[in-house]
Amino acid sequence: MEIRNYRAVVLLLMVAYFFITVFNTLPPKTNWVIPKPKRVSQPVEPSFLASQQSITPLTNTKHFLVSAFMDQRVKGFDARIIGIFRRDSIHPLHCIFFCAGFLSETTSASVLVHSDHFGFPFGATDVLCSKPENCNATHVTLLTKQNPVNISDQLWLPIRNRKTHNKETRMNFTVCISTLFGDYNNVLQFTQSLEMYKLLGVNRVVIYNNSCGPELTRLLNGYSQEGFVEIIQWPINKYLNSSRGWKVQVDKGDLQYFGQIVTLNECIYRSMERSRYVLLNDIDEIIMPYQHDNLNSMMEALQPKYSKVAEFLLESHVFPNKYFEPSGRFHLPQWSNVSGTNILEHIYREDPDRKIYHPHKMIVQPKLVEQTSVHEVLRKFGGRYIVPWELCRFIHIHVARRTSLKLEQLNEDKRLWDFQEKLIPNVDKALKRAGLLTEN
Ligand SMILES: *[C@@H]1O[C@H](CO)[C@@H](O)[C@H](O)[C@H]1NC(C)=O
Ligand SMILES: *[C@@H]1O[C@H](CO)[C@@H](O)[C@H](O)[C@H]1NC(C)=O
Ligand SMILES: *[C@@H]1O[C@H](CO)[C@@H](O)[C@H](O)[C@H]1NC(C)=O
Ligand SMILES: *[C@@H]1O[C@H](CO)[C@@H](O)[C@H](O)[C@H]1NC(C)=O
Ligand SMILES: *[C@@H]1O[C@H](CO)[C@@H](O)[C@H](O)[C@H]1NC(C)=O
Ligand SMILES: *[C@@H]1O[C@H](CO)[C@@H](O)[C@H](O)[C@H]1NC(C)=O
Repeated sequence: MEIRNYRAVVLLLMVAYFFITVFNTLPPKTNWVIPKPKRVSQPVEPSFLASQQSITPLTNTKHFLVSAFMDQRVKGFDARIIGIFRRDSIHPLHCIFFCAGFLSETTSASVLVHSDHFGFPFGATDVLCSKPENCNATHVTLLTKQNPVNISDQLWLPIRNRKTHNKETRMNFTVCISTLFGDYNNVLQFTQSLEMYKLLGVNRVVIYNNSCGPELTRLLNGYSQEGFVEIIQWPINKYLNSSRGWKVQVDKGDLQYFGQIVTLNECIYRSMERSRYVLLNDIDEIIMPYQHDNLNSMMEALQPKYSKVAEFLLESHVFPNKYFEPSGRFHLPQWSNVSGTNILEHIYREDPDRKIYHPHKMIVQPKLVEQTSVHEVLRKFGGRYIVPWELCRFIHIHVARRTSLKLEQLNEDKRLWDFQEKLIPNVDKALKRAGLLTEN
């Protein structure tokens, strides 16, 4: 070995030793009192402490943290943590930031439990934190005591939506699908819905996966590799007994509907800096413009008049899946082995009963939304517009909602067929990629 190389190795070892020493001083053995922001050598990412999970139990509490985001829209605050909090156990909390190389002083946290908790013991909760000046924050966590604190007991959340990390291409439309559960395996309808979204101009579909069937997993892995679908694993039942419904009296549990409110809010914040609009709907619902070819041209027509609108509310019309189009022209042989509903076979639409409350689904401008529920936004920085159903509505292929209606009382609606020429080969391609189409 040349002497120069030897020196380089020694130097490297010394540098490494220096870093290890510094690293070891981070979690000291006894009563660690948080100092004023203090530099520890070069910026070090606390990846050794960062949570790798989508749900992180908060030390010494009954709460869980989900994600942290930069958010300076509310005066006096810099970051927002979305969590799942036990509502009867809210105590003061303190925010602490990791500022690209040093720890910040603690600041007191502002805890806001969302009003839509449906009476369940746990609910979606925002925690607002203000960071000290001159802190280039990369991670944040919450403490129950101001000090002392053993920092190696903390799991840190990486802070998303930092301006410096905003290099992703700008998207127009993101669809948020709250939670897949119960080994859901409606493969054909899922594929058709995703391909319809694509044809309508959707750029990204975010899906929270609690559990789904093996075929659907294969399908989704293909879409995820392609970058169209973003899957977030959501093992909520590892931590809580989540309810399968939203009525606490009927479906007992700790948290409403697999944490639907939590995931919808997480999805809006995740999309805030990268997508102009976000759609909140279920996978069996397809947004459908009736006077435009796609979502871009529709929103461009609406935008000049409604630029300050935070939530566009749309009706969702049920197409009962028990009634089939009689000619069977879209009962295609290549799909006979694919499990699930074929949306092209259902063309009869229920008019919603407008005399009773009819829950809407939404398109939102995420930058104008602070907190959302399922059918309406709870806190926002903009207005609301109810989109006329003749212009745009959701096609919801589902079991009948108005069961008293007879077939003759439903409306024929073949709007989906306008897309069949492109839809069918695209669906076939996706199924084939997942190995779900037997070639003949
Ligand atoms: C700090 O936490 C680490 C890891 O959990 C533990 O090994 C250490 O003993 C703790 N120190 C104190 C002072 O509690
Ligand atoms: C903040 O930290 C990030 C990551 O450590 C770095 O890329 C960025 O340049 C820093 N920004 C400033 C203003 O120091
Ligand atoms: C977003 O919409 C604009 C205007 O309609 C269009 O030019 C652009 O290509 C779209 N971007 C994406 C990623 O689809
Ligand atoms: C969804 O979650 C289940 C249960 O953890 C897992 O077995 C499956 O592989 C996941 N599917 C995808 C597409 O991530
Ligand atoms: C769910 O409820 C059962 C029965 O009440 C209990 O034994 C179990 O520990 C709970 N699981 C979680 C994750 O809370
Ligand atoms: C459907 O699956 C069965 C059994 O796996 C197979 O024999 C049959 O050829 C398949 N049919 C089509 C149309 O792919």
